[in-house]
Amino acid sequence: MSSANPKHILAAPAWPYANGPRHIGHVSGFAIPSDMFSRYQRMAGNKVLMVSGTDEHGTPITVQADKEGVPPREIADRYNTVIGEDLTALGMTYDLFTRTTTRNHYAVVQEIFSRLLENGYIFPRTTLGAISPSTGRTLPDRYIEGTCPICGYPRARGDQCDNCGNQLDPTDLINPKSRINGETPRFVEQEQYFLDLPAFTDVLGSWLQGKSGQWRPNVLKFSLNLLGDLQPRAITRDLDWGVPVPLDGWRDRPDKKIYVWFDAVIGYLSASVEWARRHGDPEAWRAWWNNPDAEAYYFMGKDNIVFHAEIWPAMLLGYAGRGARGGAPGPFGLLNLPTEVVSSEYLTMEGRKFSSSRHVVIYVRDFLARYDVDALRYYVAIAGPENQDTDFTWSEFVRRNNDELVATWGNLVNRAVSFAARNIGSIPAPGALTDADHALLATSRHAFGTVGEHLSHSRFKFGITETMRTVAEANKYFSEQAPWRLLESDPARMRTILHVALQVVDDAKTLLTPFLPRSSQAVHEMLGGTGEWSGRPRLETVHEDGAPSYPVITGSYDTSFRWSSRPIAAGTPLSVPSPLFTKLDQSVVDEEIARLESAD
Ligand code: MF3
Ligand code: ZN
Repeated sequence: MSSANPKHILAAPAWPYANGPRHIGHVSGFAIPSDMFSRYQRMAGNKVLMVSGTDEHGTPITVQADKEGVPPREIADRYNTVIGEDLTALGMTYDLFTRTTTRNHYAVVQEIFSRLLENGYIFPRTTLGAISPSTGRTLPDRYIEGTCPICGYPRARGDQCDNCGNQLDPTDLINPKSRINGETPRFVEQEQYFLDLPAFTDVLGSWLQGKSGQWRPNVLKFSLNLLGDLQPRAITRDLDWGVPVPLDGWRDRPDKKIYVWFDAVIGYLSASVEWARRHGDPEAWRAWWNNPDAEAYYFMGKDNIVFHAEIWPAMLLGYAGRGARGGAPGPFGLLNLPTEVVSSEYLTMEGRKFSSSRHVVIYVRDFLARYDVDALRYYVAIAGPENQDTDFTWSEFVRRNNDELVATWGNLVNRAVSFAARNIGSIPAPGALTDADHALLATSRHAFGTVGEHLSHSRFKFGITETMRTVAEANKYFSEQAPWRLLESDPARMRTILHVALQVVDDAKTLLTPFLPRSSQAVHEMLGGTGEWSGRPRLETVHEDGAPSYPVITGSYDTSFRWSSRPIAAGTPLSVPSPLFTKLDQSVVDEEIARLESAD
């Protein structure tokens, strides 16, 4: 599988809002899938750049700040730290996980804005903006709720209807109400800048048509559907927290900022630029963005599709002068469009929507304090919301942990390594192989092709299922061959069986590395491996000239370990391993459900 010709692959997980800790519904969408994909791509020999950060502007942050009576920056700082720690604990191998409040980000956003304006894709317009009659403050689109004028869905938001997917204006809503305090907003005239999305209808259309058969069908259908009704979209807001609008007369206004979504999607580019600078080669980002052969994969939950399959591509096209109004690219040059928008569906929890306010939630930190990170990653891989809305239940979590991780994979590792350690003390050399031996080894060698193919297309469920099938085959082989019966009668055959079983354990460990990095590292060490097998992200403190320091996630994940079977070395000493996974008691289910209910 190692590519003689490595590809440059940008992995772009959506940027979590820094307005609170993230729960497992969030990370099942943007985080775990992007990391499984990236880890595989690196092992396949490709050059992966995985960048993201916390999304720190806009009303999600100011609403939380108002609630606590603190400045927005305090909220952003607090949750940037919390989220950075949690994503590190999840094993997210970001090359750079930064934030949107850096000077670098501001400069990149302003450059994109200015060039779009120059190319004619941004224009000013007087519009009706909502304000809260009781506070006199701007009421953000997302915080207005009412009936969708297009499909009649009663809980449509001021920016978009989650039922039919159409973009809306708050003034379109029938019977609009503030989601913050229920009052009816007052609409007043404001001047804002708009992105001319209709100027991209044709070029977005042909781009999306070309994705047929490559993207997940739901995602493509949803994206194509959006093209039917593209409207200019306001990209500035009456707000005091955000990136300043780079225009004379606006730059220093405390009440006008760039809309959070316009700035956040640019984060993928600004974080790549920041990574390159920190890496000591300021132009290095171009290999992922300007090179037409590079690929870019964006990972998110489905409420983010419109921003990644429509607005961000329109911005990239407009920056390059490739919309209906023409124009010329700025210094960033021709920037690559997404190769794929890999969107997950929604995860619910015990039949209900995740909700921090209603306490229907389990945060990443609490989850990892009680359970193994690989148990969570396994669950998301095999039972996550990859192609349809999916319910997380504690009983299913316990069942999959116990019956699959512990009883299938943990059991294979334990019985093969323990038996060899106790009776031989090292990896034995094989004698002549039987048909059964050949068949098992062929199954596991073959899995590298099939599982790799699934992973390269973000088909995580198929990938993990195929891998677990190989593990189940190996268990069956071990039981049928029963090496313990040969201890006295045929030690040579016993050694061959153990060699074959350990080879397949080693293969399965490689196949499982993108999914289960923690336990794969442990198996690597059990079989005598040294050094870092699975990439491990680390938190580091950095700063920009003259600005405060902040934490980033980074790491060096380059490895010589490849996506292929590696022959194990006879003679490598083995010791009796400790169990790879922990069996969970059934009482976990009741305890966790009681936690949810007590918070009601
Ligand atoms: N913060 C947004 C959310 O949590 C996602 C932003 S993705 C970005 O839904 F690309 F815009 F950054
Ligand atoms: Zn609707």
